[in-house]
Amino acid sequence: MNILLLGSGGREHAFAWKLSQSSRCSQLFIAPGNAGTSLCGTNVDLAVTDFDGIKNCCIEQSIDMVVVGPEEPLVKGIYDYFKEDPAIRHIPVIGPSKTGAMLEGSKAFAKAFMQRHGIPSAAYKEFDADNYEEGISYLQAHSIPIVLKADGLAAGKGVIICQNYVEAMAEFELMIQQAKFGDAGKKVVVEDFLSGIELSVFVLTDGENYVLLPEAKDYKRIDEGDKGPNTGGMGAISPVPFADETFMQKIIHTIIDPTISGLKKEGIDYTGFIFFGIIKVGDNPYVIEYNCRMGDPETEVVLPRLKNDLVSLFEATAARQLHEVKIETDNREAVTIMAVSGGYPGEYEKGLEIEGLDLVQEDDAIVFHAGTRQEEDKTVTNGGRVLAVTSFGNTLGKAVDKSRAILDIVHFDGMHFRSDIGYEFY
Ligand code: AMP
Ligand code: GLY
Repeated sequence: MNILLLGSGGREHAFAWKLSQSSRCSQLFIAPGNAGTSLCGTNVDLAVTDFDGIKNCCIEQSIDMVVVGPEEPLVKGIYDYFKEDPAIRHIPVIGPSKTGAMLEGSKAFAKAFMQRHGIPSAAYKEFDADNYEEGISYLQAHSIPIVLKADGLAAGKGVIICQNYVEAMAEFELMIQQAKFGDAGKKVVVEDFLSGIELSVFVLTDGENYVLLPEAKDYKRIDEGDKGPNTGGMGAISPVPFADETFMQKIIHTIIDPTISGLKKEGIDYTGFIFFGIIKVGDNPYVIEYNCRMGDPETEVVLPRLKNDLVSLFEATAARQLHEVKIETDNREAVTIMAVSGGYPGEYEKGLEIEGLDLVQEDDAIVFHAGTRQEEDKTVTNGGRVLAVTSFGNTLGKAVDKSRAILDIVHFDGMHFRSDIGYEFY
């Protein structure tokens, strides 16, 4: 079958790498893709939110399936766009409906959904311009730290953990009265702070059934020892040592099962990934957030560990046959380490030549491209997160050593990476 994959990051290179290994995949197109995805298929110069352009591409290239990487087209309703158009209605879209994507697209929607279905999550209240004064009183009476979340998508910046009342009041005012995050943040979820260790859990669901994929842990801070500002993710590991059988069973029973059955009960169409951002408080799991897509950089460790054919998995999803699928996993330890541009997550330069990619010859390692672009015979940087170097090892330490050795060969001006991904566990 011919497949169109949407997105251009490390996650999408990992998807493209895995999809292109399938004998079920005849032609793979990636829109817009990056220099790495062009090694697995054909890049198409289309934005992920250009639905009309995507439709035309599907017709011209006889596309049989669309796989959506990032959240934006899902939250904007690409699934519904396809279902409502007789010319492309037959093409399955791997990703939820617009309402399903609200699990990520609206924090208030997600919190209310969890409350309706008894899913453990931090206690909260929501505020906007209409109950602003009530919000101020709520903040003043609340313990510190306190978490403020912009309701809508805010490019990963919409969560603020406030350590004192002055900061909490100021941020609350900025979000609601000054539209700090645009319309996305004019509604604010104010939530209890939960203290614990985080885990990323992924399922693929066909709306009835689901399969559980390998779990991962990502490292969000820019500097070693989890210091400095938050980023999109500086690396990830899979498996995660504390995600043992007992803990995973709790997640399944108290979080995943009620989420899937809740979606079904509410008639919400969902054929795609659900990413559960989990925090372990004491011995119990709580949902920090839902995402309607795979994680990045988690995908770069999860998909290499997945032994199943990904196209067959997606076909089973579209056919609502996931109950017939058994997930098979590589038991080795995997790590991915991100090489990022100098200055990231602040300002950074683009267009810098990446050298040494052709020298990488390690077994059991893959260099996934994130923000890269091909410029004639040169590969150049094209984003904050540039490469994700994934390695396998019999121990986590060996996997980390392998990725680090590759990052000693690859170079671009200002390149930065964390050497300590997975540090708590070896
Ligand atoms: P999000 O943008 O929803 O992924 O949130 C970003 C990060 O904020 C999460 O990965 C957590 O580290 C942190 N966070 C969000 N909500 C809470 C909470 N209620 N308690 C503690 N940390 C939180
Ligand atoms: N790595 C976290 C995310 O993809 O949202």
